[in-house]
Amino acid sequence: MRETAVGILGTGKYVPERRLTNKDLEQMVETNDEWIVTRTGIRERRIAEPAQASSDLAYEASVRALAAAGLTADQLDLIIVATITPDMFFPSTACLLQDRLGAKQAAAFDLSAACSGFIYGLATAASFVKTGMYRRILVVGAETLSRITDYTDRNTCILFGDGAGAVVVGEVPEGRGFRSFVLGADGSGGELLRICGGGSRLPATEQSVADKKHFLEMNGRDVFKFAVRVMGSAAEEALDKAGLAKADIDLLVPHQANIRIVQAALERLGLSEDKAMVNLDRYGNVSAASIPIALAEAVEEGRAKTGDTLLLVGFGGGLTWGASALVL
Ligand code: ACO
Repeated sequence: MRETAVGILGTGKYVPERRLTNKDLEQMVETNDEWIVTRTGIRERRIAEPAQASSDLAYEASVRALAAAGLTADQLDLIIVATITPDMFFPSTACLLQDRLGAKQAAAFDLSAACSGFIYGLATAASFVKTGMYRRILVVGAETLSRITDYTDRNTCILFGDGAGAVVVGEVPEGRGFRSFVLGADGSGGELLRICGGGSRLPATEQSVADKKHFLEMNGRDVFKFAVRVMGSAAEEALDKAGLAKADIDLLVPHQANIRIVQAALERLGLSEDKAMVNLDRYGNVSAASIPIALAEAVEEGRAKTGDTLLLVGFGGGLTWGASALVL
């Protein structure tokens, strides 16, 4: 029996209008444009309006992805939202999105794997379609990281932005679709990147707010070392599993955390800079939304075309990592 080919039917992205530039940050913390650009590659990020939550950004990206796929919301069987900044603990952002879209036939849940969440979501969606349980699945990465960023901490506030990216996953013609997935986790490194307040371990109190326990905290240097290591190894493993060579990659779509991390991955893969989709200069790190925004933008710009071989690779809190080789 022929195996079902599962792939991406349409992509969409949405970023808020408001820009936070390096010059703006110079007014807020002891930093400067030159330091931020040379150490990270980031020049500006988008910031959601006070009335916009993650589900609002997710909605805009999802409408565009559905239009690109030529589908209506009532044709969706499942909605997966990867986020570390849900609108609230529950209902899930996926349920809020399901209602807003009018996707009445769809089941819905959120997925938590930090910046690797979108690739975890894709792997989950692809597996559901392969088994025949669902036909069309919306996978969204949506974040309002500005809400969990401490704008007095120069180590982190320069890095993050807001936005959302979405894809519809379903059956595609033979020869296209996902060729491999690699997912990984190392919970022993959880302390390197986290928000420790607000959950059952440390519920919100006046003290937890005063101690800034509801902001993202990070050991940048250790995360950097981890990122360089796993981006390379996950990318190579995804290629091996897919039976592809490095030279087969038309476009690398990496997590957009830091240009030096992307460059290290390119070096390990022996690829030139023009082989990577990079938009972190304009959006910063948007966690689970970074890869789908970059993917949607690559499609919009004609850098990723039907039939191209793409390699998606990311890492994040957890610690987690993920990669996927696919033919668009
Ligand atoms: N402006 C000026 N100086 C700064 C700034 C800043 N914004 N931030 C830090 N510095 C200083 C530090 O205090 C330090 O000074 P010191 O040597 O006197 O102590 C110096 O610059 C160097 O600091 P490092 O931390 O060594 O700088 P590094 O080159 O490692 O860059 C960075 C820091 C950009 C955070 C880098 O480590 C990085 O990108 N790490 C990975 C971050 C990441 O990808 N996080 C993923 C989050 S994803 C998620 O799950 C949400």
